[in-house]
Amino acid sequence: MVTAILAVVAGVAALGVVILERIRRQHVRDITRAAVRTRIGHVLAEGLSAGEAVDDALRLLLPDQADWCVLHLAEAGRVRRVAVVHADPQLEQSRRETFERLPFAMDVPASVIRTGQPELVAEFSPALLEKQPDPDLFRRAGLGSFICVPLKARSGTVGALTLARRTPRSYDEKDLAWAQDLAYPIGLSIENRRLFAEARELFEQSVSANFVSTPEGAILACNQRFVSLLGFKSIPEALTTPISSLYDDPTARDRLLRQLREQKRVAGCELALCRRDGRVVTVLADAVGEFDEAGVLVKKRGFLVDRTGQKDLEGRLRQSQRLEAVGQLAGGIAHDFNNLLTVIIGCADLLKIETVSPAVGGHDPLDELIRAAKRAASLTQQLLAFSRWQVLQPRLLQLNDSLRAVHSMLLRLVPPRVGLMLDLHPRIEHVMVDPGQLDQVIVNLVMNSVDAMPAAGTITVSTASVDLTPADVEQYPYVVPGRYVALTVKDTGAGMDEATCARVFEPFFTTKPVGKGTGLGLSTVYGIVKQSGGYVWITSKPNMGTAVRICLPAVAETVQV
Ligand SMILES: Nc1ncnc2c1ncn2[C@@H]1O[C@H](COP(=O)(O)OP(=O)(O)OP(=O)(O)O)[C@@H](O)[C@H]1O
Ligand SMILES: [Mg+2]
Repeated sequence: MVTAILAVVAGVAALGVVILERIRRQHVRDITRAAVRTRIGHVLAEGLSAGEAVDDALRLLLPDQADWCVLHLAEAGRVRRVAVVHADPQLEQSRRETFERLPFAMDVPASVIRTGQPELVAEFSPALLEKQPDPDLFRRAGLGSFICVPLKARSGTVGALTLARRTPRSYDEKDLAWAQDLAYPIGLSIENRRLFAEARELFEQSVSANFVSTPEGAILACNQRFVSLLGFKSIPEALTTPISSLYDDPTARDRLLRQLREQKRVAGCELALCRRDGRVVTVLADAVGEFDEAGVLVKKRGFLVDRTGQKDLEGRLRQSQRLEAVGQLAGGIAHDFNNLLTVIIGCADLLKIETVSPAVGGHDPLDELIRAAKRAASLTQQLLAFSRWQVLQPRLLQLNDSLRAVHSMLLRLVPPRVGLMLDLHPRIEHVMVDPGQLDQVIVNLVMNSVDAMPAAGTITVSTASVDLTPADVEQYPYVVPGRYVALTVKDTGAGMDEATCARVFEPFFTTKPVGKGTGLGLSTVYGIVKQSGGYVWITSKPNMGTAVRICLPAVAETVQV
């Protein structure tokens, strides 16, 4: 009896040990799994941008939780395998290669992704295995049972994770629940990774110049567009440059920061920034402030849009509108003035015939009066040309012929220190222009070049056929695209700075001493060219010479010269 009781007690004790052992093992397994889950979360979080992070994370599951694992992602309507890990490195390699070619067993991950429901195949039977496209592959990898769980994130199911064991009945419902739990941080991290990649792409590839900076003036990040807009050689060069050195007006940065502190964001703020090559660019800046818990501005995120081209365009438009307005005014006055001068000269001529005026100091005052009035009349003629009030007599002519004809006259005007060259394109179209006015244009331009070359120099007068395209219209909105004949007068003289260049077509604008220039030469050229349906552009830099290019509309027929 005692023996029997002892035997029962021993049996119960043994059973207790077995149960305790099982509980202990269960605890160990749970703790291990919890640790693995945490570690996977860390690995994925750290490797936000590195592709290998997923492989490293899955490898933490081998061999305790699975013999092999596969991660599938849903991308643009397709399911793509992104990671395959196997406890046996050799098999891992062969699976990787085979997976490039093979659809996965019965499309389980695809249906898990589609339905969002996990799948547990506790026993992958030999019969099922034989039905696979490459049974040998699965035989070698070993497929006894598997779990496939959806990777869920905020935006939905982003993929599926498969855990497989060689031996059947290795997984049960509890494992399935754990695997679902495990899948959650993986899904989130994959979505974060995608968002991060998209945000980075948006930052880096954007057409705007993006940057992140501190209120102290350090640039923390920027994109390639920022680098090219401000003329840096590389992103690292930009990141080591204090942002304050980019402002043309240092107080503008203080104003921007103050506004950012007060309003949290700034939109459409126009700034003048200095490029590395010294050029100033006009930009529109949008910026958002990042503040710490105490409300102190810690970072500024912003983007810049280049406005320089648009500003130039606006400037050019303003300039041409101003010329139009001045032209209207000057033309009106000149017209009336010209009529008065005609009366003055006519009366003086009559007086001259009818009276013998006394000579004053050897000069006949009437002669002086007539000469001065005629000079005044020629000035008003130029004003009329500028304001396009004169009557032109356009004729179909060949620029090359006109230039050859005027050449000998020019040679007499140009001093020997200056070389004059004709570079005429042999095939150019005809143009419709008043020949007398055209000669005046050429003489005015050549004389300006002579004046700009007090020492030696060369003037080149050239012709060419050109097409003004929609690209030119973008730069000069008033241009009508089409075929033109270009006449260019180029010199190697003193050139002009930007401020002078901007005013040369204004009547009476001159940099020459009193009595030397009237400031009507280029305004006359402008008026004649405009009235002939053409355009005139001037390019110049101090000490780099000047080129004046006139484009007159080509008239269809081409002549062989
Ligand atoms: N080829 C050139 N090189 C340098 N500066 C030039 C050139 N052409 C014109 N300019 C500048 O433009 C100004 C205006 O030229 P514009 O021909 O209208 O008047 P002007 O030559 O001063 O006087 P004028 O009425 O006698 O021609 C000049 O005073 C000069 O400063
Ligand atoms: Mg002149």
